[in-house]
Amino acid sequence: MSSPQPRSRILGTGSYAPARVVHNTDLEKIVDTSDSWISERTGIRRRHIAAEGELTSDLAAAAGRSALDAAGLSAADLDMIIVGTISGDTPMPSCAVYVQQKLGAQEIPAFDISAACAGFVYGLTIADQFIANGVARHVLVIGVELLSRILNWKDRTTCVLFGDGAGAVVLGPASGDGRGIISTRIFSDGTLANSLVIPGGGTAEPLTPEGIEQSRNKVHMVGQDIFKVAVKNLSSASLIALDTAGMAAGDLDWVVAHQANLRIISQVAARLSLPLERFVLNIEEYGNTSSASIPIALDEAVRDGRIKSGQNVLFCALGAGISWGASVIRM
Ligand code: UT7
Repeated sequence: MSSPQPRSRILGTGSYAPARVVHNTDLEKIVDTSDSWISERTGIRRRHIAAEGELTSDLAAAAGRSALDAAGLSAADLDMIIVGTISGDTPMPSCAVYVQQKLGAQEIPAFDISAACAGFVYGLTIADQFIANGVARHVLVIGVELLSRILNWKDRTTCVLFGDGAGAVVLGPASGDGRGIISTRIFSDGTLANSLVIPGGGTAEPLTPEGIEQSRNKVHMVGQDIFKVAVKNLSSASLIALDTAGMAAGDLDWVVAHQANLRIISQVAARLSLPLERFVLNIEEYGNTSSASIPIALDEAVRDGRIKSGQNVLFCALGAGISWGASVIRM
């Protein structure tokens, strides 16, 4: 089966991680945990944490500038900014408009996507549509999270897992040489909405002093529920995206999966019958940066020469919602 012709392609990648690095051993001092538990159960050894005063939109704008540079474009060339985040600067307006302001972009549409860890794959899928229908030529897609400010630092079941960071790509029209987004598929299942949730602070539960005391405005997760569904759905979405692209897993040069847990990635690798060496891994360094994890790993692998032009790459991500998706790209 031949692959569909891509309509958009990645013109440049960028990323940004805050300078401050927190090691597992640092966390041993604040919650009842251990370096061995964290590294053996998740693969995480370190994570980057934003400095006081550093904003989500600062991280996002830094990654965006880097992607624009790599694409040889400037903010004036952009037709749209899409930001995948659940930890924007303010509940309203979107993080994307602060990024627009910081980049000095024109009066273009700028909006956020709330799909948690799948936010980047959702953003990519939406951008691909706007480029395909000719409404936009250059779209900046960013995945960014500043989760350290919405974690309960007394809850060892969540606070050891996440980190801060941003990754970005600039998409532009495909040039007809087969490179670009060949297929991209997104899904949600609201029946599991409460398995990974910030329960307070929205209209369902406006914040009260008691709510703040009980950390209702912080991330709550039933880790095992998400683990099981992550392995199943990341594998099935990947196979659907591959099938839509007219490819098999064996045709892939690289997989850039959401970096939530090395054990999840290993089980997805087994289900796709792919060696773990085919996966770009950086969970050890960043922890789970939610929507930023795929574009950060992508940018690192592009810049260090692992991912090369013309190679077939699969993205797959799953997070709160639950929302998930997978994309097949020829770089
Ligand atoms: O990115 C968004 C999507 N999120 C995910 O994909 C995360 C999916 N879930 C996971 O990755 C895993 O479920 C976790 C890493 C969150 C947890 O690993 P687990 O192997 O599922 O552990 P568990 O929840 O079954 O807990 C096992 C034990 C428990 O103690 P008991 O009840 O056996 O005595 C926990 O209380 O480990 C304990 N535990 C910890 N111990 C030391 C939980 N967190 C910690 C910790 N340090 N930080």
